[in-house]
Amino acid sequence: MYRLHLANEALFFIVFLLFSSIASASVVEHLLHVQNVIVKPLCKEQIIPSVNGSLPGPTINVREGDTLVVHVINNSTYNITIHWHGVFQLKSSWMDGANMITQCPIQPNNDFTYRFDVTGQEGTLLWHAHVVNLRATLHGALIIRPRSGRPYPFPKPYKEVPLIFEQWWDIDVGLLNLRPAPVSDAMLINGIAGDSYPCSKNRMFNLNVVQGKTYLLRIINAALNTHLFFKIANHNVTVVAVDAIYTTPYLTDVMILTPGQTVDALLTADQPIGMYYMAIIPYISAKGIPTPDVSPTRGLIIYEGATTSSSSPSEPLMPPSNDISTAHKFSSNITSLVGGPHWTPVPRHVDEKMFITMGLGLDPCPPNTKCIGPLGQRYAGSLNNHTFVMPESISLQEAYLYNITGVYANDFPDQPPLKFDYVNFQQRTKSDYKMMFPERKTSVKTIKFNSTVEIVLQNTGILTAESHPMHLHGFNFYVLAYGFGNYDPLRDARKLNLFNPQMHNTVGVPPGGWVVLRFVANNPGVWLFHCHMDAHLPYGIIMAFIVQNGPTPETSLPSPPSSLPQCTRDPTIYDSRTTNVDLSY
Ligand code: C2O
Repeated sequence: MYRLHLANEALFFIVFLLFSSIASASVVEHLLHVQNVIVKPLCKEQIIPSVNGSLPGPTINVREGDTLVVHVINNSTYNITIHWHGVFQLKSSWMDGANMITQCPIQPNNDFTYRFDVTGQEGTLLWHAHVVNLRATLHGALIIRPRSGRPYPFPKPYKEVPLIFEQWWDIDVGLLNLRPAPVSDAMLINGIAGDSYPCSKNRMFNLNVVQGKTYLLRIINAALNTHLFFKIANHNVTVVAVDAIYTTPYLTDVMILTPGQTVDALLTADQPIGMYYMAIIPYISAKGIPTPDVSPTRGLIIYEGATTSSSSPSEPLMPPSNDISTAHKFSSNITSLVGGPHWTPVPRHVDEKMFITMGLGLDPCPPNTKCIGPLGQRYAGSLNNHTFVMPESISLQEAYLYNITGVYANDFPDQPPLKFDYVNFQQRTKSDYKMMFPERKTSVKTIKFNSTVEIVLQNTGILTAESHPMHLHGFNFYVLAYGFGNYDPLRDARKLNLFNPQMHNTVGVPPGGWVVLRFVANNPGVWLFHCHMDAHLPYGIIMAFIVQNGPTPETSLPSPPSSLPQCTRDPTIYDSRTTNVDLSY
């Protein structure tokens, strides 16, 4: 099987060479071979599922307009899917790789080929496994450059450097599903823990630079659960894109990325020849949770000509890990590059208005179990008081296409069941108590093709207020406003930026605050909207949109490829559907 695909790949490459000279869009083909591999970022050897034997996995490079063909061969012991985080998947929603939403998983010793066009977006994204915690080690960069002959909307950098931030547990990845989930042991930069960690003292991610040159850092937060601050000693950077959408150039000395977010930033080596640390540190926004005294994970920038033995490198002064105002300043100050490539103005008319409360709640503790949550219960996550339950026998999109009843309910509400003081929640009445115990359901919201959806996402303080990174599959949304406290429709609606709002596929909703999002549902299919902190929650801060077909075959959901994996239950396969992840702290 493996060799066959390689032969195909070679053949494809020849065909691709023949055609690439006449067409500006190409077919880019890759083989992702999922296999267990032994790695040792800290002191112990661990067996992890990997792609092509490396952590992080391979970088995939395309140009806007290309067709990407990826053969995934699963020789690991896990069920997997691969998701192309942030890719629009226009008319190709079967290729979204969302486990049990657009496909059943690829089982061990099986394969599946993802094939889709990458159009209308440029910048840095990531690919990752979409079976709960497996993306901890199954991830990599997906870099989309402009079509050939088209420039970047900023001076051409001398070199481009992917920086992938990862979260590492020094245990078997399968154990990440334990309840309570363990606290992670390290953060990695491009697979390396660096000199802050034991057994990693002499290993460090090094970026060699030439004084005066400018580098494009393509930064990805691939951590499972942790927002990260990133800073470089003595250097400012200029942000030029987030989540593969160009931004107004934004000069900063610090940035924050939620899990799943990306930032493209220009770094000019404009300091005296020497060595400078870059560092990442967790941002912990939850109030009342002690902030662990962790040392930053570091990489090193080495100027050409620097004497590596002499003085010690300069260190960046990191913000404290609960620095909400620094996080908020960076997040809310980014604006889009109006008139830049792929920019489309904000639609003024809204067809669907939703107000969604988001946060933690409780799930009754099963009999004969000891639960560590408040009131002796388990934690649960919810949107409008619904905890999403993954379908188990068929993907949501197949159930939708074939009209199979009993798999999901089209009843995701536009409002929470109760209006209350969301941020300062106090349990006083019976109905308050009910708000603490969300309903477990597979709920979807159906929307008409091409309608404009506006969502006010209100972070609640039901158990604790903390930032949740909400990620929408299949679309970018405009972030029209960020705020703290309870959203006030009269006062806050006036604050919307309808001129140059930032766009994202993942947004960190401020702790005890809200965001206003808008997107145009121009892509038929079933699309997840979920918190991108995986092991943190019982996969429950989730809902799904069903975008109905448009008027033509072109605007309708196509039939699935005949090779789409089918669901069978094999109890010997590690499978997230049968386990329940608990809150880790
Ligand atoms: Cu990056 Cu649904 O995921």
